[in-house]
Amino acid sequence: MTNNESETPRTVLIAGGGTAGWMTAAYLSKAFGHTVNITLIESAAIPKIGVGEATIPNLQKVLFDFLGIPEREWMAQVNGAFKTGIRFVNWRKREEGEGPNHFYHPFGVLPAIDGIPLPQYWFNDTLGRGEGVEYACFRSPAMMDAMRSPRYADGRPAVPSAWHFDAHLVADFLMRWSTARGVTRIVDDIVGVRLNEQGAIGSIESKSGRTLTADLFIDCTGFRGMLINKALGEPFIDMRSQLLCDSAVAAAIPNDDETLGIEPYTSAIAMKAGWTWKIPMLGRFGSGYVYSSDFATEDEAVRDYCALWGVKEGQVNFNKIRFRTGRNRRAWVKNCVSIGLSSCFLEPLESTGIYFITAAIYQLAKHFQTRDFDPVMVDQFNREIEFMYDDCRDFVQAHYFTTTREDTEFWRVNKNELTLSDSIRDKMALYKSGMPVNPPTSSEEDYYGSLDQEFHNFWTNGNYYCVLAGLGYLPDRPYAPLAYLPESVRKSRDVFRQIKRQQRESVEEMPSNFEYLRELHSKENSGARSPALRNSNTALAATTR
Ligand code: TRP
Repeated sequence: MTNNESETPRTVLIAGGGTAGWMTAAYLSKAFGHTVNITLIESAAIPKIGVGEATIPNLQKVLFDFLGIPEREWMAQVNGAFKTGIRFVNWRKREEGEGPNHFYHPFGVLPAIDGIPLPQYWFNDTLGRGEGVEYACFRSPAMMDAMRSPRYADGRPAVPSAWHFDAHLVADFLMRWSTARGVTRIVDDIVGVRLNEQGAIGSIESKSGRTLTADLFIDCTGFRGMLINKALGEPFIDMRSQLLCDSAVAAAIPNDDETLGIEPYTSAIAMKAGWTWKIPMLGRFGSGYVYSSDFATEDEAVRDYCALWGVKEGQVNFNKIRFRTGRNRRAWVKNCVSIGLSSCFLEPLESTGIYFITAAIYQLAKHFQTRDFDPVMVDQFNREIEFMYDDCRDFVQAHYFTTTREDTEFWRVNKNELTLSDSIRDKMALYKSGMPVNPPTSSEEDYYGSLDQEFHNFWTNGNYYCVLAGLGYLPDRPYAPLAYLPESVRKSRDVFRQIKRQQRESVEEMPSNFEYLRELHSKENSGARSPALRNSNTALAATTR
């Protein structure tokens, strides 16, 4: 068999036009648009879930560089803002009379000295009693405290960073980009999915009477999973015994940027029955309380959310979300690939949502075929998605079962009753022993430069240390070999001093995040923000600081 035996053009039909649908359409049209006809059907009626989205650094390389779209160009279209990491607020137990506590989970890859990662030296020196591991090992925490941009005024990066944006606007932007490059867009509702004799997807029936067929179908229909789950019957593996949250109440809150500035990070603020995200953009921030319906009612969630931001219930236009945590047993079944919420989802605590989409698209391109599907390649694709998801679920779960909070039932159950995978148990045992959880990662450039490297070592040693030590969950003892390596330990002290110097310099040199974003958005475009959101509200002081 050869690869070009058939003259008829191959066809791909994407069902659903949210972020997943349009990212897939854009990527596939760039990768295979000259040999494959791509159509996307989206409903005019079904709203997209998009209340401020946080991303990770590889988005530019994996998606936008591939499409050839410079950062400033897309950022201007989607109210893009910078993110240097995540600030976790009140995740540690609060002692009597103590104020709010926080730690950062910054982006970036930590160096190793004589083959031993920097956090091992930090713990050897401090036993976790001094400043936090992230303040000792990364340059960016001081910049985040001072609300500095991760970019110099001329656009050069000082530290790795990702983005906050409005996912509706990203979908719109990529819709315009894709349709201008030959993707066919159909605005219509899907009312039925027919199977063929092989039990694969045969056609999609639309409300206005169309029958749409294709060689390959991509399910981007969100939590509904209309093709993969409903039509093909692929089981969804529910993982609520591993992550308890299943709901969210979300809204956009205006921000007085001139007075308060714009935080260059996502915040995750621990609550009674979950946590609240804060995603700052120009003029407003997106925020949602992610909670477990076993431990709070929707009314309680709304009340605690409004109390957190000092807003009145009637003033806020809530998006109320019920989500499923878990993944399809297989993401690719027969002639149907699920991408986005129809494939897998876990709470957005570590900003994995858009990453799951781009990683799945990247893997799809790597295993791409539209006919005579090779089971070996399809299985390989499915294994990659399974690994990606389960690995992220384990890491997010580690934020919960290591908790020192015992003030509500939600935190007590998290501490005592979650089901843990063997893999996360092994990692925690290594961490406790003082050993690195993962081998040191190569250079930052290589790591963020290719999805292949990052994909299989997604949570680096630094990721584990920042979060676990930040939560107050420490190794039992320092890494044993360091007791025999005084020379290496001495070298590490020079590195720690150098980081302190860089922190001071960055705080002095870098522009504020607000200044940088104001300049970016006024130069590139002024129409991206909705005027209603420009009403500032000074009363909304940054209560988390
Ligand atoms: N490999 C990812 C990165 O460094 C890990 C990651 C995902 C992450 N979400 C994060 C790191 C949030 C810091 C904060 O980008």
